[in-house]
Amino acid sequence: MALRARHLLGIEPLAPDEITALLDLAERHAGRNRGGEKHTALLAGLTQINMFFEPSTRTQASFELAGKRLGADVMNMSVAQSSVKKGETLIDTALTLNAMHPDLLVVRHPASGAVDLLAEKVACAVLNAGDGRHEHPTQALLDALTIRRAKGRLHRLTVAICGDIAHSRVARSNLILLNRMENRVRLVGPPTLMPAGVGELGCEVTDDMREGLAGADVVMMLRLQKERMDGGFIPSEREYYHRYGLDAEKLLHAKPDAIVMHPGPMNRGVEIDGTLADDIRHSVIQQQVEMGVAVRMAAMEMLTASLRAARAG
Ligand code: NCD
Repeated sequence: MALRARHLLGIEPLAPDEITALLDLAERHAGRNRGGEKHTALLAGLTQINMFFEPSTRTQASFELAGKRLGADVMNMSVAQSSVKKGETLIDTALTLNAMHPDLLVVRHPASGAVDLLAEKVACAVLNAGDGRHEHPTQALLDALTIRRAKGRLHRLTVAICGDIAHSRVARSNLILLNRMENRVRLVGPPTLMPAGVGELGCEVTDDMREGLAGADVVMMLRLQKERMDGGFIPSEREYYHRYGLDAEKLLHAKPDAIVMHPGPMNRGVEIDGTLADDIRHSVIQQQVEMGVAVRMAAMEMLTASLRAARAG
């Protein structure tokens, strides 16, 4: 199955059957990724360019590995050394890369909407690897796959998304996906870290961790996005940890078999207790990273389905 749209810019345009098909395909890649022979030739002959205008460790590595495992030619454009530093605009950079005829462009950018804009200017498929506070679709999909594997389903679960909701594209994409698959989502955090208009998002909202975690199947913690704050959002990190940091004691309010998630990078001792983050009885944080590669392989495979069909026919 292919995705209906040419690009993967967000979860918003995806229908439930597309989400399920992508996760099913990713599941098969996850199985292969655990075996000895990880390489396939599905994307052989195709070119993937990764453009990261914001620092990234796991997302960039994950996309790079996903492309290589599918046999694509993968190029990482390092923005630190590129002409962006000389003042080139996003669109000029995109047009330059477009002239090199990539098939897939993976883009991360600090401005919300920048990736959508870029997608209008290029001929290839664009994957959003995170744009500002807007969307981070492959993160929500890898989270969904991790949840589905741990819980055996992806519907009628209670999911608490906790912490810095206002600055988080991860929270936004997850909220859309989990709502679309008919789960019960609760946003938990201080009012200063809730986005404007949170009441219209179709979920429960609370500033009390114990109330927010009550009966939760999944507890998703978020990083405090200090780089997107200009002061005054939290009294102090110590106070924040006391009220909103996840530790074993607060987790007791969730279901006994609740899983603990975090997209990384973590601030240990700020939003999550370090020992709990490493406790594999609850924490699935390493599995999230593992599923990231499989989900990105599935997304790139589906986005190039028509190209590959044309080549085969
Ligand atoms: C997230 C991101 O960049 O949006 N990280 C990630 O992709 N693994 C979350 C974050 O930076 O806090």
